[in-house]
Amino acid sequence: MVQEIDLGITCDMHVHVREGAMCELVTPKIRDGGVSVAYIMPNLQPPITTLDRVIEYKKTLQKLAPKTTFLMSFYLSKHLTPLLIHEAAKQKAIRGVKCYPAGVTTNSDAGVDPNDFSAFYPVFKAMEEENLVLNLHGEKPSVYEGDEEAIHVLNAEEAFLPALRKLHDDFPNLKIILEHCTSESAIKTIEDINRDVKNAADIRVAATLTAHHLFLTIDDWAGNPVNFCKPVAKLPNDKKALVKAAVSGKPYFFFGSDSAPHTVQNKTKYMGVCAGVYSQSFAIPYVAQVFEEQNALQNLKGFVSDFGNSFYDIKDSELASLDRAILYRTEQIVPQTISDGKETNVIPFKAGDKLDWSVRW
Ligand code: NCD
Ligand code: DOR
Ligand code: ZN
Ligand code: ZN
Repeated sequence: MVQEIDLGITCDMHVHVREGAMCELVTPKIRDGGVSVAYIMPNLQPPITTLDRVIEYKKTLQKLAPKTTFLMSFYLSKHLTPLLIHEAAKQKAIRGVKCYPAGVTTNSDAGVDPNDFSAFYPVFKAMEEENLVLNLHGEKPSVYEGDEEAIHVLNAEEAFLPALRKLHDDFPNLKIILEHCTSESAIKTIEDINRDVKNAADIRVAATLTAHHLFLTIDDWAGNPVNFCKPVAKLPNDKKALVKAAVSGKPYFFFGSDSAPHTVQNKTKYMGVCAGVYSQSFAIPYVAQVFEEQNALQNLKGFVSDFGNSFYDIKDSELASLDRAILYRTEQIVPQTISDGKETNVIPFKAGDKLDWSVRW
């Protein structure tokens, strides 16, 4: 039985660390969870749309976790201009831009209309020129009215897929990630788009997969707000497709935890529960659990290290000075809460469960 694996320079390409007390609590947990490089989401209040702010935010995070490498992003909105994109790229302040359809999830009110991206085409063109990544929250907002076919949380991702294909057709060189894939149809679409790709360097459309969506189906959140996130976990065939994609060794599927902390209070209200699963503290051990179950530990390093770093074009010279994550077989129990000892408490994914793996540096 394998007891230890050198995972190299692990990366989690979709991380929410918030601001204030929550940020102080969860930012150091990135490394505790076995992750070295973290791509940080911009959906703060207000969202991150300026150079000053993204530089300031990165400084704050770096102070809280000096050994973690932070890759930053802008929030796609009307405040972004091609000029700003070029300037941000020149200063290496961001690696990508996150696109939230308005109204689909936490702090997405300032987002865009996914039925018509044309207003952002000049921004996408600048991103394509600068080799920046477009990160898509791939859901259509729910609609029940009129002649339109109903869109709801179970088909919202599938309904978004034609928009993904159109963006790729219109910007064939733009790097696009369908974030936190949750459906068999999304997996099939990503595979189809990549059917002729021979080299990892030629991948233009990739997908991130979270840890929690490799475990959850609809029954797990229907009665439990702790497991409620967006996009929602779907049906057994969907979960099966996600697991298969994760362990496949295909370089266009890689890890992005979408760890999204909310306080216990905000997760346990009787109305308006916040969407988001917090998984940062045990990110890599959760994923290792799935890979071992699938007899695919040999593909874990690709999924949690090599493929993400390669898609984001992180140079070996940048990675060379970073610590390597060593996965080793030692049981740990996920605690009931992650707390700062004051008022900020978060319930971690799989609270109370036993994990078979730990990470050291
Ligand atoms: C390299 C490795 O481990 O082989 N990549 C990685 O872990 N992401 C390390 C490197 O290229 O510096
Ligand atoms: O569940 C989610 N939570 N999905 C998202 O897209 C956003 C995130 C958050 O910020 O809480
Ligand atoms: Zn999202
Ligand atoms: Zn997210």
